[in-house]
Amino acid sequence: MTLEGKRILLGLTGGVAAYKSAELARALVKAGCDVRAVLTESATRFVGAATLQALTGQTAWLDLWDPRVANQMAHIELSRDRDLIVIAPASADFLAKVANGLADDLLSTLVLARRCPLLVAPAMNVEMWSNPATRRNLLTLQDDGVSIAGPASGDQACGESGLGRMREPAELLDDIEAFFQPKLLAGKRVLVTAGPTEEPIDPVRVITNASSGKMGFAVARAAREAGAEVTLVTGPVSLAAPQGATRIDVRTAAEMFDAVKAAVAGCDVFVAVAAVSDYRVAHPAAQKVKRGAHRTWRLDLVENPDILAWVAKRPRAPFCVGFAAESEKLGEHARAKRRRKGIPLLAANLAQEALGADDNALTLFDDRGEHPLGRGPKIEQARKLIAHVAALMAAQGRRR
Ligand code: C5P
Repeated sequence: MTLEGKRILLGLTGGVAAYKSAELARALVKAGCDVRAVLTESATRFVGAATLQALTGQTAWLDLWDPRVANQMAHIELSRDRDLIVIAPASADFLAKVANGLADDLLSTLVLARRCPLLVAPAMNVEMWSNPATRRNLLTLQDDGVSIAGPASGDQACGESGLGRMREPAELLDDIEAFFQPKLLAGKRVLVTAGPTEEPIDPVRVITNASSGKMGFAVARAAREAGAEVTLVTGPVSLAAPQGATRIDVRTAAEMFDAVKAAVAGCDVFVAVAAVSDYRVAHPAAQKVKRGAHRTWRLDLVENPDILAWVAKRPRAPFCVGFAAESEKLGEHARAKRRRKGIPLLAANLAQEALGADDNALTLFDDRGEHPLGRGPKIEQARKLIAHVAALMAAQGRRR
């Protein structure tokens, strides 16, 4: 599910990060949302209503008593047709108001009068964020079912540094998209492997596989969005882990195996997306092997353990999903691999179509046959995969 057609009320409160919310408004509109902006008076010190109006293509609202709204009911009218209210930036003062049910301007009143869910993106000075009063308010908001995005850590406009920066517009867009995903794996624990592994030949040379890690990271993100607790064991890649996932960085297949062994107990789902090196060098050189040291250089390779097969054979194994990148005969190889590994589900693609790309065209193989997912961005393929996993697990549960 994408953001196309979603009706968002974007509330801006007083904070310098308000200028970034203009970018968020633009990104939401670009994603197909209908965006209605409401600004507090303090927000207008940082960004003008005209900016929001131009970016959203609709009136930006400021005043509880705006005569353009019928019956003077702006606080009701403006939120009733909305799917979600997003407050970005959400100042410490505004969070305190919402936590305590105060309603003394248009935005706080319509938040109190809302029927739709609320997501807030806090932005404030590091001391304000860590103040016990703000901590208390945050706990109250969480108890009240308010979703909280961020804040991030880093340099602040005031010159101090720490937690309190608003998340970047692109990250907030991801948070909003995540908010709308069905929580198919709520309460489940999911372990994902991603990326390549590196097997040292000497201190500067490695044997590795071509893998960007994008598909594995997309699977971890989709599982998070579906409400799961996610651990992501990844080989060397330059990608940011999805918000809220526990990331474990490894280099070799042996390290990946150790990390999986340590994390797998209690997991409900294991998705092995990593392109694990099938072999490692039996005796890596302690020092760099000089050019010309060998006319013909022969390396002894020993087989690495098959992590997925090991997990699948455990007593009380999690629901196991394998990946297969093939260069030909996709169905034939995928079916054989699924049988060989003894797993209920395998996702396969042609390597030449997916490597390093943002798009993929997966086909899922399970007991009922094959299910092509069509071509699309890796995150959408990952969401379909997670939905398939949830459906198979639910069916398994029903059979038990
Ligand atoms: O056997 P093959 O490497 O083709 O199988 C691919 C699947 O097995 C992927 O899901 C991959 O993550 C997993 N795998 C693994 N450990 C290995 C090799 C592959 O978990 N040593």
